[in-house]
Parts: sequence; structure tokens; C-alpha cells
Amino acid sequence: MTHSPELNWQSLQRLRRVFLESRPPVPDYWSSETDLHSYDLTFAQRIGWKWDYVMEELHLRGWDPPRGDVVDWGCGSGVAGRAYVDHVGQARARALWYWDRSPLARTYAIRRAREKYPSLEVHEGLPEHPTVLLISHVLGELAPDQVEDLLRLVLRATATLWVEPGTYEASLTLIAIRERLRHRLHAVAPCLHRERCGILAPGNEPHWCHHFAPSPPEVHTDPFWGRFGRDLNIDLTSLPLSFLVLDQRPAPQVPYGSVRIVGRPRIYKPEALILACDATGVRDYHLHRRHHPRPYQCFKKGSWSPIQIWRRQNDLITEIQPFHSGSPIQSVA
Ligand SMILES: C[S@@+](CC[C@H](N)C(=O)[O-])C[C@H]1O[C@@H](n2cnc3c(N)ncnc32)[C@H](O)[C@@H]1O
Repeated sequence: MTHSPELNWQSLQRLRRVFLESRPPVPDYWSSETDLHSYDLTFAQRIGWKWDYVMEELHLRGWDPPRGDVVDWGCGSGVAGRAYVDHVGQARARALWYWDRSPLARTYAIRRAREKYPSLEVHEGLPEHPTVLLISHVLGELAPDQVEDLLRLVLRATATLWVEPGTYEASLTLIAIRERLRHRLHAVAPCLHRERCGILAPGNEPHWCHHFAPSPPEVHTDPFWGRFGRDLNIDLTSLPLSFLVLDQRPAPQVPYGSVRIVGRPRIYKPEALILACDATGVRDYHLHRRHHPRPYQCFKKGSWSPIQIWRRQNDLITEIQPFHSGSPIQSVA
């Protein structure tokens, strides 16, 4: 990857302070194209890796991206829209729309997208009927009434893909949104079911629904990423995210025994303790190393898939299979 000489480290330091310290409603902080360009090459790349994770999971789930107008709301430099189009293909996007309260951001995102996809229609603003609504890393900047306005747009879209940082606060807000909308829309992901969120059950207060996207190997070798991590005090190896995918259409069915792992398994000498979610709730399950040495090692090394198919006896995992869509034994609709 080449890095433009226009990247400005002071811009990045200032943006980092805004992201860490501001409370909603956050005043517009994009002051120049340099800000957006510096952001696009750094923070937005990390966000793009989170979108890759979400899109790969949707693919694994057998989710069918609806064809139509794709809107990137609160677009910043426009990484969510580009990540989405890269995954689903330009043929699924009738047009890509960029909306942000900052005119600088809108202009930057549109220019980048037009450069990347010369044959795709790219517009500024919001279409009458959004087909796919993309929302990325905006919750921390919105006042409650702005979230309400946004939810009205969510209800008009065929599908909404919403990605936020994997913090307790962002996760619980997404869960609250899911609770409000789950009878009107289908929760496609991260949930494998449409019941009340199990995180909200008594006793689960310490937990939140978060996941970890992998970062590419170059973050460990490229001096640019080394400087970014050091100067801005950002752990590049850990990409925590919370996300929510809602759809007017029923979610793809999942095989019986499907579970979603929440957070990271805790590894002890004799066993791994794994927090997992299915329609019956969110709870810890035990995987004994002696009986399942290979899956145990995968969990230990961090190379596990967040959705799997298990057999269980109470809270003991007795068998693990990789997740596959297309064998619909149990409906989640
Ligand atoms: C942290 S940035 C994220 C940008 C981009 N979505 C991404 O994931 O890289 C948040 C964006 O939300 C925009 N924003 C904040 N409040 C907004 C509002 N009320 N309406 C539209 N955009 C808003 C900001 O201008 C900024 O571009």
C-alpha cells in the first residue's frame, strides 16, 4: 500500500482527541480535505477491516444483498460504502449515495467512490427509498433525537447494516435498537434468532455483544502502521466491533445447533470457557481440552469462527462442527 504525502499526523492526533473526548451531539470536526484523506488512510482502513468481517459473515450466513440504492449515512470518507460494494459487487448497487452533515465529507467520499468505480452512479444525499442503509461509527456522535430520526430511515430501508466500535455502550445501544425494531424487522446478524436479546437477561449485566475482526498481517510489519499505532496509541491487533443487520425480509435459516460466540473465549489449562448465544439465551459453555484438543487449540490461538454448530449437554460442549448455511433445520424467522 502506498501512503500519500498529504497524510497529516497533526490532523490524526486532533481527530483521535475528538473521537475519544467528545460527547454527543459532536460539532462538525472535518476542517479540510487533508483531515479526510489522513482519516481515510488510517482510521477508515481499520473500519474497512471490520466491514470485511461483517460482510464475510453475511456471506457465510447466505444473506442475499438486495439490489438497489445503497446509502452510506454519516459517511465520513466513505469507507463503508466502498467496502459494501467491493463485497457484493457493483451489479447489486443501482447507485451509491453518500450522506453526511459535513459537505467536505460528502465531497471527499463521492470523489473517492467515483475514482474507484467509474461506471457506478454515485450521488450526494438520500434517495426516496433506500434499499441498503449502511451506518458506521456514528452512534457516539448522535444525540437521542438524531438517533430517532435515523431509526425512521432504518424502517424505510429494505436492509440496514450497522457497524460500531465494540464498546459496552455502543453494544447496549445497538441491542436497545434491536429490541425496539425486532418485531417489525428481521434481525439477520449477529443474531441467529429473533428472540429477545439474551444479553439483557438477569445475570448477564457484565457482558456485551462484541466481536473481533482480524487485522491484516502488514499491521505488524509495515513501519507506517507501526508509527500509527505508536503515535496514536492504538492497538492494531485488536479490532473490536459491535454490529447489527436488520432486514425487511426473513433472515436465512440456520442449522439446528448453531451458536454465535460472543467476545473472546477464556482459556484455562483444562478447558475453554465460551460465551455463546442462541435462541435460548446467552451463557457460558465449557469445552474440555482433554476431549477436544484441536478445537481447544484453535480457541487458544485465536483462530476460531464466530458462528459454529454445537452439540451440548447442558453447559458442556460435546461436539463442534463448522457453520454452513443451506441446511435449514431450524428457522430463525
Ligand atoms: C467517526 S465518523 C465515521 C465516518 C464513517 N461512517 C466511517 O465509518 O469511517 C462519524 C461521521 O458521522 C458524521 N455525522 C455526525 N453527526 C451526523 C448527523 N447528525 N448527520 C449526518 N452525519 C453525521 C460525521 O460528520 C462523521 O463524518
